[in-house]
Amino acid sequence: MKTQGKVFLVGAGPGDPELLTIKAARAIALADVILVDDLVNPDILDHARFDARIVQVGKRGGCQSTPQEFIERMMIAEARAGRCVVRLKGGDPFIFGRGGEERAHLQGAGIAVDVINGISSGLAAPASIGVPLTHRDWSQGAVFVTGHGKTPHANPDWAALARLDMTLVIYMGVARCGEIQAALLAGGKAASTPVAVIHAATLPSQAQLVTTLGELPQALAAWGLGSPGIIVVGDVVRCADQDVGAGSRHLPYQSQSPRV
Ligand SMILES: C[S@@+](CC[C@H](N)C(=O)[O-])C[C@H]1O[C@@H](n2cnc3c(N)ncnc32)[C@H](O)[C@@H]1O
Repeated sequence: MKTQGKVFLVGAGPGDPELLTIKAARAIALADVILVDDLVNPDILDHARFDARIVQVGKRGGCQSTPQEFIERMMIAEARAGRCVVRLKGGDPFIFGRGGEERAHLQGAGIAVDVINGISSGLAAPASIGVPLTHRDWSQGAVFVTGHGKTPHANPDWAALARLDMTLVIYMGVARCGEIQAALLAGGKAASTPVAVIHAATLPSQAQLVTTLGELPQALAAWGLGSPGIIVVGDVVRCADQDVGAGSRHLPYQSQSPRV
């Protein structure tokens, strides 16, 4: 009788391959099949077996991403065939990564599934410029929020978020920064609130700027920072490294490797 395989939903971290967890590297090394999302650094696949089947399922070069149903059907078929499947996602699979939907779907089909956390870009991006998400003087909490709801009606309640005295960490918000800015200002957030935008955090192409909420769309346009980007709104941005001034762009990449 054939043993049923298993699916691991694995977080690949924000980009720097050294930010992968040891547990994630071990799962990748075990896998027969690896389904790889967009924003996963290809260097991470160095951990894979030479005979592992690698399937890219993200959007590439403006193409449509692979339909979610196809990905789920494939994971179920491979696991039923007794194979070890790794579903590799950028950041953390349970933060805006559809990990919850996929886990439910797999379990509904009777497939064993494990989740292996990754470092989310919402943690790594601010840290890469010296910005903590909480600080006893500046912010008593942080909210992770998407700038891009599943449907146009599923957007966050920006007015409620504007009233919170906490750090806002906005994913998928760069393309809609004008709408987000207007909604936060309308909700009462001060135009002088510090904001940081970090593009391609922890990668050699990382770029960032620090500005204010009032000037966010103009600053982004002026410096041409696009997706993927994390927007951090709140007083903690005052802690940003000194050399991340308004409009500072393409600062030299600093390896995350510990100095020895
Ligand atoms: C579909 S969400 C996936 C988030 C991912 N699961 C995580 O935990 O980081 C994609 C968004 O994550 C953010 N993102 C992912 N990697 C990033 C990076 N290296 N630098 C900045 N933002 C990043 C961007 O906001 C991007 O639009």
